[in-house]
Amino acid sequence: MTTPDSAALRRKLANDLAQGGVLKTSAWRTAVEEVPRELFLQSFFKDAPGPRGHEYTPVSADTDADEWLNLVYQNETWVTQIDGHLTADNPTGTVTGFPTSSSTMPSTVVGMSEALDVEDGMTVLEIGTGTGYSTALLCHRLGEDNVTSVEVDPDVAQRADNALEAAGYSTWTVTGDGLLGHPRRAPYDRTIATCALRRIPYTWVRQTKPGGIILATVGPSAWSYGTGLAKITVKDDGTAEGRIIGRSSFMPARAEAAVPLAGDLTARTFYADTERKTSVSPDTLKGWMPAFLAQLAAPGAQLLRATSDGRETVYLFDAGREAFAALTADGDQWTVRQGGPVAIWDAIENTLTAWHDAGEPDITSVRLAVTPEAHAYWIGGQQITNDQRSYWLGGKNAALRWKHSHSPLNV
Ligand SMILES: C[S@@+](CC[C@H](N)C(=O)[O-])C[C@H]1O[C@@H](n2cnc3c(N)ncnc32)[C@H](O)[C@@H]1O
Repeated sequence: MTTPDSAALRRKLANDLAQGGVLKTSAWRTAVEEVPRELFLQSFFKDAPGPRGHEYTPVSADTDADEWLNLVYQNETWVTQIDGHLTADNPTGTVTGFPTSSSTMPSTVVGMSEALDVEDGMTVLEIGTGTGYSTALLCHRLGEDNVTSVEVDPDVAQRADNALEAAGYSTWTVTGDGLLGHPRRAPYDRTIATCALRRIPYTWVRQTKPGGIILATVGPSAWSYGTGLAKITVKDDGTAEGRIIGRSSFMPARAEAAVPLAGDLTARTFYADTERKTSVSPDTLKGWMPAFLAQLAAPGAQLLRATSDGRETVYLFDAGREAFAALTADGDQWTVRQGGPVAIWDAIENTLTAWHDAGEPDITSVRLAVTPEAHAYWIGGQQITNDQRSYWLGGKNAALRWKHSHSPLNV
């Protein structure tokens, strides 16, 4: 295949990102102008809603070269792998499934690159190589020898490696589970993840230099929204602290992807331990920040909505703990039935009530600290969770905890 001349499209993309306030520094601008995204997107899927749900149609230079190149330079995320094996160059026509690799939209890639606050000569560990486009931008900015990128999927890693070579970068690509980092080349000045995580692995803190920055999308990934971009700085004592700098949405780390719930939901929620009216509507969970908080309060719980005879039921299931909450509308009121060893809705309701009482601050008010033992989140000096491994506000002391919490490092 001959290489198309995309210089004008690259300049336009850079202009658009600069005008949108995403691209701020000249070094990153040059990277966007000079790294050809098409080398990393030789084929990908265009998606659209269809009768079978979300449907993905393959696109490549072979299907329509002009359309392909124009799409490559849209500010869009393009899915490159579905269900861990389907790619757009072995297509069987339009397919459905769950995206497992992609080239993230340039505004997100560049926005995160800018947020890394890199300086010349710094080393970076990237988790989630994907197509390799973001890796190439890092190589352009910092030099190929200063970038280490880990991809969990061997086929995706191989393609990225080929594309990086074609772009002229013989960088350090590693096939493996990025949750473990890559100790061999540690310590790094910066660590960045382009997949979402339930918690920032402490190994990353250990592998990042004191004063170094870790940037990653956090929030239990059982829902497709309600996650935040955490930016934390590693301290001399081996802990790290920072805050959520904005909303962010990425596909979950492979080992953390939600397993689809099986079975009849009505049957699975037939025997409840308690039943009561709620003081918070589950519709609140449609908001990004409430969803973020709810997932911290009830990690591992999956959210499903079902309608039967015109009556909506909201289900929250924690398959690992065999616990559930089933909420049904009753006029303006909602009734919750809960079963299992943890009271999912109590935990969520208490957290949302405390958040409401605190004036409903947005996601950027959330701070977090990572220690070898815990992951703590707090807002304005008031702790909201102690650790994503356990349910936090399972009892009536929730609001009290919100108001009278101690240092998050003391949990
Ligand atoms: C959104 S894509 C990455 C986008 C990429 N940075 C780009 O610009 O093309 C997320 C990638 O993370 C990878 N991934 C998921 N879990 C991982 C893990 N535990 N370690 C390393 N890579 C992982 C996926 O296979 C996928 O390729």
